[in-house]
Amino acid sequence: MCGIIGILGNTPAVPRMMEALKRLEYRGYDSAGVATVEDGTLGRRRAPGKLANLEATLKADPLGGMAGIGHTRWATHGSPTEANAHPHMTGRVAIVHNGIIENFRPLKDELLKAGVTFEGETDTEVVARLLTRYLDEGLAPRDAFHKTLSRLEGAFALCVLIAGEDDLMFGAREGSPLVVGLGDGENYLGSDAMALAGLSSKLIYLEEGDWAELSRESVQVYDAAGAPVKRPVTLSQVAATMVDKGNYRHFMQKEIFEQPTVVAQTLGRYLDPNSGTVTLPDMPFDLAGVNKVTLVACGTSYYAALVARYWIEKIARVPVEVDIASEFRYRAPVYQKDGLAIFISQSGETADTLAALRHAKAAGQHIAVLVNVMGSTMAREADVALPIYAGPEVGVASTKAFTCQLAVLAAFAIKLGAAHGLVDAAQEAAYIAELEQTPKLMAQVLHADGKMADIARQIAPARDILFVGRGIQFPIAMEGALKLKEISYIHAEGYAAGELKHGPIALIDETVPVIGLAPNDGLIDKTMSNLQEIMARGGRVVLISDNAEDEEGLLDRFPMPSAGELVAPILYAIPVQLLAYYTAVEKGTDVDQPRNLAKSVTVE
Ligand code: G6P
Repeated sequence: MCGIIGILGNTPAVPRMMEALKRLEYRGYDSAGVATVEDGTLGRRRAPGKLANLEATLKADPLGGMAGIGHTRWATHGSPTEANAHPHMTGRVAIVHNGIIENFRPLKDELLKAGVTFEGETDTEVVARLLTRYLDEGLAPRDAFHKTLSRLEGAFALCVLIAGEDDLMFGAREGSPLVVGLGDGENYLGSDAMALAGLSSKLIYLEEGDWAELSRESVQVYDAAGAPVKRPVTLSQVAATMVDKGNYRHFMQKEIFEQPTVVAQTLGRYLDPNSGTVTLPDMPFDLAGVNKVTLVACGTSYYAALVARYWIEKIARVPVEVDIASEFRYRAPVYQKDGLAIFISQSGETADTLAALRHAKAAGQHIAVLVNVMGSTMAREADVALPIYAGPEVGVASTKAFTCQLAVLAAFAIKLGAAHGLVDAAQEAAYIAELEQTPKLMAQVLHADGKMADIARQIAPARDILFVGRGIQFPIAMEGALKLKEISYIHAEGYAAGELKHGPIALIDETVPVIGLAPNDGLIDKTMSNLQEIMARGGRVVLISDNAEDEEGLLDRFPMPSAGELVAPILYAIPVQLLAYYTAVEKGTDVDQPRNLAKSVTVE
């Protein structure tokens, strides 16, 4: 969602901020702005829409200054207009803000009564006006900022410049991440490590309630009570080159093609083929005692959870419940003593998933997370964090994070089975040998991408598309439909193949292509029967299968290599990703930043 950059530098801030905002584009946004302080005076430029609009504004009306704050805004309250874009300014302060100030109405009423006037309706302006008031009352900047923070309720990250202060910047974190970057005679603030890639690799992750006072030569972090605190300096794993498309046309394409490499890396961290064992990070609880697993996530991560349910129930015989995070807390979930709740989140910041994590933690469940960002809030609040090692994922539509999540979940299912005495040493080694084949088979599937580009051209004119699969392919069908909707804007749904005849088959005619996922497993005959039912009603079927050669009457087929049940869902994720990608390219949509979507959704 919204992105923040703050630079206290020694060269003009605007070009560097624009670079950083470009690195933050992946989060999704619909307006952007920058403010600087130059010779004590604040200046600001904002524009609705893409960064190109802000660039054009800055070209027509340049902005100097070596200290600046910048923002990409993903609209929540208020449309994405220039007036609603950040930074928000009064004569004395400029502020960028992620998140929501929940008590902004009473604060605004209080300020209105005191004679303060407002330009707009946003909660951010209330923060700017409140801080201005405290400065006007004569408080020193540090005290004014701390007093402002003490009045705010909600989840937010803030970055602030003050008029007359060319060597001062404040940042604060409460529920929404903020990172300090340490430079040489310069210091920075960013909403994540990606914002700071290329500026600094030495990072301080602010903790909940922390705020920071920056000058070019110093950084002081304070806790919510205002006491100076020391937070560890961590080395960023995000190099500027990682945030580069290389030879690819889109980040999503690059990330799809990176999958054999990153999945191999992830498997390498969790599997030891020499000893034939799975290694997990140290668990602060006994896996053998875990009698129920609750999996909670959003979006693509939720579909990874659905796949994991099949594996965990089959391999470890532990009951599994899977929930969408935004629903989880609202149905009085029944926890069991010694239950393990696993939260899956690429970003580790998704607000609904985080809220669900806190709910399960308060209920005394063991808490594990699967995250791609180890400094994330979920990683820090969990009992144990299992990194997925996918590397930075920039495309809004998740691809490599999904297959890396699956790789880790497969390893986890094996380990849980071993802990429960259901997977002996020989079986564990056999599972590992099977998983070790994954990267090679993924590369083989990717090699046939030209075929998927052909198929995409055939389905691109459709208005509706169905994806069907059975068993462990059912979640992949749903993931395929989600990918296609996200980036091509074609309406798509994923169905259990056997469920189609209970309603959705009424939709079938020659205008609704159906993508059938049918690996040659124990369910293929049933899936093929369901596909025949579709074709008998004039439906046009694209069959994705390792048994695709002799089927008659298909619109097209995409041949797959054969694989076992641990590898097949990881492999079948690839053709549906490619289909979404090439369909979007065919339609000319914005693949990496689809309309209305955000990469990391930090509002509930
Ligand atoms: C957003 C993204 C999706 C992602 C979901 C969950 O909606 O657009 O691609 O799957 O959030 O994100 P998370 O970081 O929690 O995995």
